[in-house]
Amino acid sequence: MSILQNINEIRNDFPILSEQIHGRDLVYLDNAASTHKPLQVINSISNHYEHNNSNIHRGVHLLSQRATENYENAREKVRNFLNAKSTQEIIFTRGATESINLIASSWGRKNINAGDEILISTMEHHANIVPWQLLCQEKGAILKITAINDDGEIIFEEFEKLLSEKTKLVSIVHVSNTLGTVNPIEKIIEKAHSFGAKVLIDGAQSVPHFKVDMQKCNCDFFVFSGHKLYAPSGIGVLYTKKVILESMPPYQSGGDMILSVSFEKTTFNELPFKFEAGTPNIEGAIGLGFAIDYITNLGLENIKKYEDELLKYGTEKLSQINDLRIIGTAKEKAGVISFVLDSVHPHDVGTMLDLDGIAIRTGHHCTEPLMKRFKVPATSRASFAFYNSFQEIDKLTESIQKVIKMFG
Ligand code: ALA
Repeated sequence: MSILQNINEIRNDFPILSEQIHGRDLVYLDNAASTHKPLQVINSISNHYEHNNSNIHRGVHLLSQRATENYENAREKVRNFLNAKSTQEIIFTRGATESINLIASSWGRKNINAGDEILISTMEHHANIVPWQLLCQEKGAILKITAINDDGEIIFEEFEKLLSEKTKLVSIVHVSNTLGTVNPIEKIIEKAHSFGAKVLIDGAQSVPHFKVDMQKCNCDFFVFSGHKLYAPSGIGVLYTKKVILESMPPYQSGGDMILSVSFEKTTFNELPFKFEAGTPNIEGAIGLGFAIDYITNLGLENIKKYEDELLKYGTEKLSQINDLRIIGTAKEKAGVISFVLDSVHPHDVGTMLDLDGIAIRTGHHCTEPLMKRFKVPATSRASFAFYNSFQEIDKLTESIQKVIKMFG
């Protein structure tokens, strides 16, 4: 059965979607900020605390063994989801931001030197700008920015021109959280590799919408957050090719990341544990595994097909509104419509829509340089998930029209 026919059944798996907001049915269109969790994920957390709660990798007792097995099963689910070669390449972190910081602190400090260049794009999230700015300041390296066109697409010829033997890292977002642009990462990775640069892909906004494949794209580093993938907050993933991980020094240190410690010398644990110091977010990782099961059961191809239809419908509906301008009109988009109204500030739009029970995000979306590029202080952003319906987009459209009337 297609996901379209199942929409009501799917919505029943997400209890929060039945919430009333200011006396109205919730219309949740802020999925790029965070997604809701199905009962399967929520129950996996209760189940962990009710039946298996214990620390991992430490106890000989049964509870510890069960918790360890469930945590490591989750790692295998992530490996399979990304099509990574080995679970040794899957590091659990707090989220995409921490994953990028791990690479900047460990791989970056070791490999980036004075005069080296790191290349990012105009549409990066602050989490894929600031860690590199700090690293460049520390090392005397140079941060270069590749331009985008008026539709919000990377200008590939400009990108090629910026590459040289000095480029040590290219760090690019897969899907822009603000524009929805899907970047051609395979082409970008191949080109960057031909100059000997490593490539990091920020997949926070791509993994919820379509299948990614580490063997096919051949990136060196890939990061994402669980909470945008229907999993709990505070859990994220860093994928790194094993050969690179083996050469990297630890990021944080403490328990679990060591094999033996004396006051003279410490021997580090094997991969991936060397990069997971301290007690991790055990229930978060288990919940992430259940979230991956959930979307795998729905089928990422079905999800993509349905969400593409939502995006097309939403784009058509919003384009018909006078005064409304969509920011981000790339040919390849996923899940996001950002817009500005001539007569109303985005924050007022967000507040008024909330009174109708509609949740969207307004502001700079942690992409201030991108706002500058489009010469706007902020946008309103509707972002979709597979549990959204066409009727919800109708409600969004009507509510925006009401706001225009009121402020106009
Ligand atoms: N990065 C998240 C967003 O785009 C929080 O809203």
